[in-house]
Amino acid sequence: MVQKLEQLYEGKAKRVYRTDSPDLYLVEFKDDATAFNGAKKGTIRNKGALNNQISAVFFRLLEKRGVPTHFVELAGEREMLVKALEILKVEVVVRNIAAGSLAKRLGLPEGTALPFPVLEFYYKSDELGDPMINGYHIRALGLASPEQMAKIEETALKVNGILLEYLAGKDIDLVDFKLEFGTHKGGLVLGDEISPDTCRFWDRTTREKLDKDRFRRDLGNVEGAYEEMFRRLTGKKFE
Ligand code: C5P
Repeated sequence: MVQKLEQLYEGKAKRVYRTDSPDLYLVEFKDDATAFNGAKKGTIRNKGALNNQISAVFFRLLEKRGVPTHFVELAGEREMLVKALEILKVEVVVRNIAAGSLAKRLGLPEGTALPFPVLEFYYKSDELGDPMINGYHIRALGLASPEQMAKIEETALKVNGILLEYLAGKDIDLVDFKLEFGTHKGGLVLGDEISPDTCRFWDRTTREKLDKDRFRRDLGNVEGAYEEMFRRLTGKKFE
C-alpha cells in the first residue's frame, strides 16, 4: 500500500500529493467548482467523488485501447493513484460541435455540428487566464517539441474517436473536451481528468446538458447532471 505524503500542489479542483514511491502521485478531487478563470466560485455536492470515478472509467477505457494515461488505480472515493508526470503547459481542446468559447468567437450557433474535429491549444497559465495559442507560440515558448506536438495531436484525435463511439452507446453526444499531457520516464502520457468538469456532454435525445455548463450558466440540477453521467457510465446509481 502506497503511503500518502505531503501536498505538492493545490489547483482549483484537485490536490496532488507525493507518495513514498517517487514514480507515483496521489490526486484528490475536490467538490470546489470554479468558472470563468475563478471569477465564479461554488461547490458541487460529491463532485470530487463523481469526477474521480468518472475519470477512472475513461482512463481504463483509453488504456485498454492503447492510449497511455497516468491512471494507476482508484485509491478511495475521491482519490486516485497516478504516475508522476511532468505536465506540459499546453491544454488541448477537441471540438465536435460548436459550443462555449468557439460558438462565441466564431459566431456559430451553439449546437452547430463541425465537419471534422477541431483542435485548439491553450497556454496553461492561471495568471494569464489560459490564452489560446498556436503551434508557433508553443515552439517559441518551448512548451513542447514539434515531435511531442505531433504525438499530442494524433493522441487527442484518437481519444476523441474512442470517446465518441463509447459515449454514443450511452446516448451521449461528446460536444468538446480538454486534455492535458505530461511526460513520464520520457514517454508522453495523458494526465489530469476526463469528467463533466472538462468535457461537454449532451443527452443525444433531449440535448440536455450533463456537464459543468449547468454550473457556469446557472441552469440548476448541477449535482443531478454529474450523478446522471456516473449512472450512464457505470450502470449504477451514485450512493
Ligand atoms: O470554454 P470552452 O468552450 O473553450 O471550453 C472547451 C472545452 O474545454 C469544454 O469542454 C470545457 O469544459 C473544457 N475546458 C476545461 N478547462 C479549461 C477550459 C476549457 O476543461 N480551462
